[in-house]
Amino acid sequence: MILVTGGGGQVARALGAAAGGRELRVVGRPAFDFDRPETVRSVLDVARPALVVNAAAYTAVDQAEREPEAALRANRDGPAALAAWCGAHGARLIHISTDYVFDGTKGAPYVEDDATGPTGVYGASKLAGEQAVLASGARALILRTSWVYAESGRNFVLTMLNAARRTDRLRVVADQRGCPTAAADLAAAILALSDAWDGSTGGVYHAAGSGATTWHGLAEAVFARAAAHGMARPEVTPIATADWPTPARRPADSRLDCRRLAQDFAVTLPPWQDSVARTVDAALA
Ligand SMILES: NC(=O)c1ccc[n+]([C@@H]2O[C@H](COP(=O)([O-])OP(=O)(O)OC[C@H]3O[C@@H](n4cnc5c(N)ncnc54)[C@H](OP(=O)(O)O)[C@@H]3O)[C@@H](O)[C@H]2O)c1
Repeated sequence: MILVTGGGGQVARALGAAAGGRELRVVGRPAFDFDRPETVRSVLDVARPALVVNAAAYTAVDQAEREPEAALRANRDGPAALAAWCGAHGARLIHISTDYVFDGTKGAPYVEDDATGPTGVYGASKLAGEQAVLASGARALILRTSWVYAESGRNFVLTMLNAARRTDRLRVVADQRGCPTAAADLAAAILALSDAWDGSTGGVYHAAGSGATTWHGLAEAVFARAAAHGMARPEVTPIATADWPTPARRPADSRLDCRRLAQDFAVTLPPWQDSVARTVDAALA
């Protein structure tokens, strides 16, 4: 059986929705909480999964700057405990990580072996989680993904749709590049891996939507599709990161090269434009 953590989150919900005939159970807070390690042990001991997909994480990038201990508990210590259990019980682990482990200065899509260099607490805590999982000796795949969105939850696509309901003018950052990833596409990739990966190999893989854009480009794609549903299209002014100060510094260019996943497992995520259109359709249906 497959146990998915992070119950209320975007990726965990998408996994639950896409499970098909697989035996899959989604657990979330308060029953499964990295801040209460006894809940982690007891859920695992009762469920006895053959595969754990860890989609639970402290994902509030700006808030993490003020709460580094909480970020480390969820993003380093929690995955370490999961990996230790998996190692001891022969279970496989698919652990989700982030493009924010990189500093964004490469100027080309990152491959898995590129040097990391997180620019904030969130990225540093996720990198520490990767290292803990790799050091555990558990049979593990680490999937770094990026710019995740879905038709529900907290994400940029829905933030843009909500903003367009309130205003006809927006300013959106146009000098950060990345790969938007639909939670549903990542879930489909993870389920394909749950079938294709037998645990005899492991390591780090990049798993993001195909293609890349800026936050501004993503906003424009959202509004173009929303216009087809009759939503008034706001005027979107491209701005620089410096004009939109945030507590956490973000990588300027965290595009991920996902060819290793395609080569080793024949898994590729769809073009981001197609998935944004599908998500906007679902959000406005
Ligand atoms: N969102 C993105 O743009 C993005 C980008 C790159 C990588 N990722 C990675 O992708 C994975 C899935 O992200 P997502 O977008 O699905 O995130 P999400 O929607 O924020 O969901 C995260 C889930 O983790 C749970 N959680 C938080 N702290 C926890 C703790 N201490 N113990 C147990 N559960 C806890 C949350 O519970 P509550 O609902 O109770 O808070 C929530 O259900 C994460 O590993 C994330 O780092 C996300």
